[in-house]
Amino acid sequence: MMRASIIGTGSYVPPRVIKNQDLERMVDTSDEWITSRTGIKERRIADHETTNEIATKTAKNALKAAGISPKEIDLIIVGTVTPEMLFPSTACFVQAHIGANRGIPAFDISAACSGFLYALDIADKYIRAGVNKKALVIGVDLFSHIVDWKDRNTCVLFGDGAGAVVLSGEKGKSGILSTHIHADGHYWKMLYTPLCIASSPFHNKPLENSFLRMQGNETFKVAVRTMGEVCQEALDHNGLKVEDVSLLIPHQANMRIIKATAERLGLPEEKIYINLDKYGNTSAGSIPLALDEAVKKGVIKKGDIILFVAFGGGFTWASAVVRW
Ligand code: ACO
Repeated sequence: MMRASIIGTGSYVPPRVIKNQDLERMVDTSDEWITSRTGIKERRIADHETTNEIATKTAKNALKAAGISPKEIDLIIVGTVTPEMLFPSTACFVQAHIGANRGIPAFDISAACSGFLYALDIADKYIRAGVNKKALVIGVDLFSHIVDWKDRNTCVLFGDGAGAVVLSGEKGKSGILSTHIHADGHYWKMLYTPLCIASSPFHNKPLENSFLRMQGNETFKVAVRTMGEVCQEALDHNGLKVEDVSLLIPHQANMRIIKATAERLGLPEEKIYINLDKYGNTSAGSIPLALDEAVKKGVIKKGDIILFVAFGGGFTWASAVVRW
């Protein structure tokens, strides 16, 4: 059976580090509050690099790890809600900047923090169907561009970063076993970022700021419930038990959400990969960034069952199971 195998991972974070102590000088907050409520100690902020540049660096790192030429890629999908331009898509810029072949499909997916798993779901289906052979799947977000740096409720939570995987259609037991994606737009007001559109003589809509807005408590509750459910859905689909999971790589939003999700599943803490203390919530970047770090540290071994789970604005939520 043809499966999409992960043959390379890559990531990139901008070099500028902003610690909780730096935020203490910007808003009425404290390292103690941020650490105890979220687990975040510092995050990276892009002060000059753009989404396209960061996505391109990430893509090049993943291709290098896979040991293949950009000419072998025949599909590029990017999960992002902070593109540099409304169009062309980030994926089109990546295609041009890495030197991929002209004419291959390249497009972005908007699913907020679930963007990477949504993109992975689509790429997996193209590969299984035999339409494409080698796909580049990227998650990238620069939330520093959309948070209100005067709002302590939100600015302490996010950071900038990206990760990517190279998928290859291969016969065998390893690769993506399943993906599950979900959405419920009724919840849109819990977490959203309006688009600031130019004024026009044909409408008189007042201009509003385009900062991220969030109802943290409600988001927390729905995140824990749906992340638990979509993990169980993934295990049931593959006839797996929680004990079969070698590592859970969750969306790195908040330590309390992650712990509550793992508790619902009955998964011990030592089986969860966490790096949010260093990067905060990098939205679509978070899962592939954590995966790349885990791979580089040698945490993942051949044959391991890796469970991925995400939750984000929309609301959207998703899971994937990979046999390494
Ligand atoms: N520093 C100090 N105090 C703060 C800060 C801050 N940075 N932010 C809020 N507070 C205050 C509030 O004003 C409030 O004060 P009050 O009681 O005087 O009104 C108090 O802390 C408690 O606020 P709550 O919002 O009730 O705090 P809570 O314990 O719920 O934690 C948090 C807030 C961390 C945002 C939590 O609700 C959460 O994790 N929600 C999930 C949100 C999330 O992760 N979103 C990311 C996108 S979705 C995703 O990726 C999963």
